[in-house]
Amino acid sequence: MAEIDTSSLDMSRLPQHVAVIMDGNGRWAQQRGMSRVEGHKRGKDSVRAIVEATRKLGIPYLSLFAFSTENWARPRREVNALMSLLRRYLRTEIERMMNNEVRVVAIGDTARLPDSVREELEAAIERTRDNRRLTVGLCVSYGGREDLVNAARMLGREVAAGRLAVEDIDEAAISDSLGTAGIPDPDLLIRTSGEMRISNFFLWQLAYTEIFVTDALWPDFREPEYVAALEEFQRRVRRFGRVLDEPRRQAAH
Ligand code: FPP
Repeated sequence: MAEIDTSSLDMSRLPQHVAVIMDGNGRWAQQRGMSRVEGHKRGKDSVRAIVEATRKLGIPYLSLFAFSTENWARPRREVNALMSLLRRYLRTEIERMMNNEVRVVAIGDTARLPDSVREELEAAIERTRDNRRLTVGLCVSYGGREDLVNAARMLGREVAAGRLAVEDIDEAAISDSLGTAGIPDPDLLIRTSGEMRISNFFLWQLAYTEIFVTDALWPDFREPEYVAALEEFQRRVRRFGRVLDEPRRQAAH
């Protein structure tokens, strides 16, 4: 792996979990008179670049919003193209992931995925399960509200079965019932294409996350743009609702 220029970064204060809303593939293609699918193809190259950069930086968690529950309502042709890109990405990247000790986890309703995509995803999850350098959370058929509904149902079933007292439903119990169970909340959320929205992404998990919005479209978001986002993150003062003379470490929750 080629080196990454980290001279502008304080390597002791990197985020531990970066989450990304990868937006603007369609506009990138439109600006070039190409089909939206061409934009998604270029977006896949950015996914590879950002996974690799995250691994090089030593950031242990990266979550990518690849397909939302709402995205199923897109034209069938585009949904099919996104599914096939996801399958191809997993197939072509698996060796590189093994070499780089990258673990893949799925976050979202994978039961809705076409069999061929789900099988490729399950195979990647199984094959990479013991890798520990970087965990990549692929958020597919994911919706923040659906995540919370599922958590409420899961906890409700535990209460109904007499295995959990209502009083024991606390923040940790809810966090442990979400698709991100076991993964720390993101320190940094990056959204490309200038949109100032959360778009039903990690609604619970983003409570204290620093949000960085860039005008760059996702297919143009590569290593230099990523380093710029991390520089901005390091300029932020995180207070977690407290006052400044009561400091907490940046990466703490
Ligand atoms: C948003 O851009 C992007 C998506 C809905 C899909 C993201 C998919 C990829 C980056 C490629 C495949 C993913 C992986 C993990 C290999 P948009 O289409 O909404 O753009 P627009 O707002 O400009 O129309």
